[in-house]
Amino acid sequence: MKQLFLTALAAILLAAPAAAEGPEALDARAKEAKAKEAKAVIKRLATGLQTELKAAKTERGPGGAVKVCQQLAPQIAAELKEETGWEIRRTALKVRNPKNRPRPQELQVLKAYAARAARGEALAEMETAQVEVRGGERGVHFMKAIPVQEACLGCHGSELAPGVAEALSAAYPEDQAVGFAEGDLRGAFSLFKPLAATE
Ligand code: HEC
Repeated sequence: MKQLFLTALAAILLAAPAAAEGPEALDARAKEAKAKEAKAVIKRLATGLQTELKAAKTERGPGGAVKVCQQLAPQIAAELKEETGWEIRRTALKVRNPKNRPRPQELQVLKAYAARAARGEALAEMETAQVEVRGGERGVHFMKAIPVQEACLGCHGSELAPGVAEALSAAYPEDQAVGFAEGDLRGAFSLFKPLAATE
């Protein structure tokens, strides 16, 4: 009798989550499924930028590479959106291009990353998936922290590469994105993709 009762109880408990799958469970599943996709898109933007930057630096010098960076990031982002449906941008607490200033939700996440970094947490672990409604469309908003690497210092460090300071002040009179050291939090990738009605 007791056995029967336990079996019945187990069946009810096991069935419960599926039967009662509410918006929260749906959101959790969507976030998990989309985070993987978002990370693959980020990898493509990061790799694309780094490859082109290296080539540009060799061909045109660091000053010329500034121009490449200016045109390339939005261009690769547009191509990725076309191909994958993910809208991707880079943002930061201190920006070079005012267009990259954080939106309120991004600002919250960036501040949380900065606080975690100040406590000694590794930037590599900082990523956030949220389900958001934008313009009436339910979608996944994914963010991932961007660390400063050695290769970034010529354009974001304390001592800029020759020719870079001039190119930067000409193109970005309000530039705040200098003075970083290797390992600092530079900013974050921020992605959004609408979900299908069944996701
Ligand atoms: C050749 C110079 C150059 C190098 C090297 C460089 N950047 Fe930048 N970075 C720029 C320019 C120019 C912009 C502004 C792009 C724009 O107009 O959107 C920028 C913008 C950014 C932004 C967007 C937020 C903002 O400040 O506007 C991030 C994030 C960023 N860079 C991270 C990095 C990281 C990480 C590295 C190293 C892996 C790096 N950059 C290397 C020139 C450079």
